[in-house]
Amino acid sequence: MSKFNIDGKDIEFKPGQTIIEAARDNGIEIPHFCWHPKLSVSGNCRMCLVEVEKMPKLVIACSTVAAEGMVVYMDSDKAISARNAVMEFFLINHPLDCPICDEAGECKLQDYAYQHSTGESRFVEEKTHKDKRVELGPNVMFDGDRCISCSRCIRFCDEVAKDAELTFVKRGDRVTITTFPGEQLDNPYAMNVVDICPVGALTNRDFRFKARVWDMAHTNTICNGCARGCNIEVWTRNNEVLRLVPRYNEEVNSYWMCDHGRLNTFKFINAGDRIDGPHMRVEGNLIKVGWDEAFAKAASNLKAFGKDEIAFLGSAYATVEDNFVAAKFAKSVLGTGHLDFVRHIDPTFGDEILRNEDVTPNTKGAELAGVAPSKNGFDFNGIVKAIREGKIKALYVLEDDILNDNLELENVLAKLDLLIINASNFNKTSALADIVFPAATYAEKNGTFVNFQGRVQRIRPALATNDVDRALEGMSMSRLDKFGTKYDRWAQGKHFDARSSWKILVGLASAMGQKLKYNMAEEVFYDISNSIDAFKGLDYDVIAELGVQLKSVNLKSTVKI
Ligand code: SF4
Ligand code: FES
Repeated sequence: MSKFNIDGKDIEFKPGQTIIEAARDNGIEIPHFCWHPKLSVSGNCRMCLVEVEKMPKLVIACSTVAAEGMVVYMDSDKAISARNAVMEFFLINHPLDCPICDEAGECKLQDYAYQHSTGESRFVEEKTHKDKRVELGPNVMFDGDRCISCSRCIRFCDEVAKDAELTFVKRGDRVTITTFPGEQLDNPYAMNVVDICPVGALTNRDFRFKARVWDMAHTNTICNGCARGCNIEVWTRNNEVLRLVPRYNEEVNSYWMCDHGRLNTFKFINAGDRIDGPHMRVEGNLIKVGWDEAFAKAASNLKAFGKDEIAFLGSAYATVEDNFVAAKFAKSVLGTGHLDFVRHIDPTFGDEILRNEDVTPNTKGAELAGVAPSKNGFDFNGIVKAIREGKIKALYVLEDDILNDNLELENVLAKLDLLIINASNFNKTSALADIVFPAATYAEKNGTFVNFQGRVQRIRPALATNDVDRALEGMSMSRLDKFGTKYDRWAQGKHFDARSSWKILVGLASAMGQKLKYNMAEEVFYDISNSIDAFKGLDYDVIAELGVQLKSVNLKSTVKI
C-alpha cells in the first residue's frame, strides 16, 4: 500500500484518497468544518490548511489527493498560524453566545476555539448582524449570526435528502442561508442538518433550550420507527428522554435518520398515558392492582378456557427475546397453536433513502423467534374469524395496539370473554382489555431487533423502570457497564412500574404453575442462540454496538446512502 508522511508519521492511503481521508483512516483528525465524509468536497472553510513539502503554498487537506512519498505538516508554524488566522476570521462576526446556545458542549467552533486559536480577538469594531430565530421549516430554526457558511446543510439537502431546499444568498460578510422562494426546509430528513451543522446555527426546534448536553446521559440503541432500525443515541435527563440523534453505522443508516424516527418515536415514553403498574377491569373500569394479584387473576381466567379457545398475538414492536418467550408461553404454557403477529405495512412511508414501508422494528425477529401458527393453528386472519364465530374466546396481545390502524376489529374484540394485553401506554386496545400488564418501552429494556436486512441489533435501557432498578440493585459496576448504562443517572425523575414483556410472561407462567427459567434478557438470548440456527454463536457482546448480519436470513438489497 502507498504511504505518505504526516507530522513525522508514515501512514498508508488508498489510491484517490485525500489527505484528510487518509489521515482520518489512520486516527489523525485534521481540523475541519465544511468537509464531511458523506458529502461532496466544497473546500470553503479553509480550516484544514496543511503545509506540504515542495508545494509553494499551504493546501486544503480535504481536496488535495494524497500521493506516494508526500510529506505533510499539520503542526508546522505555517500551518498553525494559518489555522489561527482562519479561526480569528470565523470569530470576528460570531456572537460568542455559547452560554445560551444549544450547540455548546458539542460545537466544533467552540472546541476549535480552545484547540486551534490564539484565544483572543483583535476585532473591536461593530460585528455584522444577521437574522436570528428564522424558522427554516417546521423542525429547524436558523440563527444567521452563528452560521460559518460551510454549506454542509445545503449539500446535505442536495446530495442525501435529494431535495434542494437551501441556498446561499448575498456575499462577503453578509452571506447567509435561506430556503428557495416558496420552499421550506421540510424534507423527511431535514433535521440531519442540525447534527452536521458544526456550530449552533441550525437547531432542533423540538429540543431547543430543554437541556445542556453535559447534564444529559446518552445510550446506544435502535430506532423503533421502521424496519430499517437506524442506529441512534437516546439522550436523557432525570429519567426522561429529551432527544434522539443518529449513530454512525455504514451498514444500516450511515450518519443519518429520518425526522419521523427522531421526533415521533420517543414522546410516548414520557407521556402522561403511560401504564404505571398492572391493571384489572372491575365494574367496567381499569383499576391499578399489584403484580401478584394481576398474575393470579390472569392465570385463573386463562385456565377457565380450553386450549383451542385461546389465541396469542406476538408483536413486531417487541424484541426477539419478548417474542421468543411469547411463542414458548403460547405453545407450552397455554398449549395453543393459534399464534401469530400483525404486520404493519405502510407503502406511503417507505422511500429510497432509509425509510422502510414496514413501520415496525422487528418483523423479521418475530418471525425468527417462532411467532407463527402451528400446523392446525390459526394465523391472524384465522384468529379474527374464529373470534367472530365464537370459537376463540380468550386473546393475549403483546405490545401492539391492534385497534389503532384497524378499527373494524373493535366489534371482533368486543366478542371476547377475556382480553389480556401487555402495553406501555393506554390505547384503543387497552380500552377493551380485561387485564393490562405494563410493558417497558424499547428505551427501558435490554433486547434485540432484527431489521429488514436481517441484521440483529441491540437495544439497551436508557431509562429506569422500577423493575430495571430492582434488577440492577447489588450488581457490580462492571456488570452495570455491560448494560451499557450507569445506575446513578437514573436516581432522579419518574420511574414507571413496568417490565419487559418476556418477564411478564415468566411471572404469569409461574402463576400458572409452569417454570420459564429466565431472570435476564441475556439468558433469554442465550437460549435463542442455542435453539435458533440464524442466531447460532451470537451473544450480546458479539452483537455489540453495530449489530451482526444473520447469515441464514435473506439479504434484501440495501439502499446506497
Ligand atoms: Fe427510524 Fe426508520 Fe426513520 Fe430510521 S428510517 S430513523 S429506523 S423510522
Ligand atoms: Fe477543508 Fe473546509 S474542511 S476547506
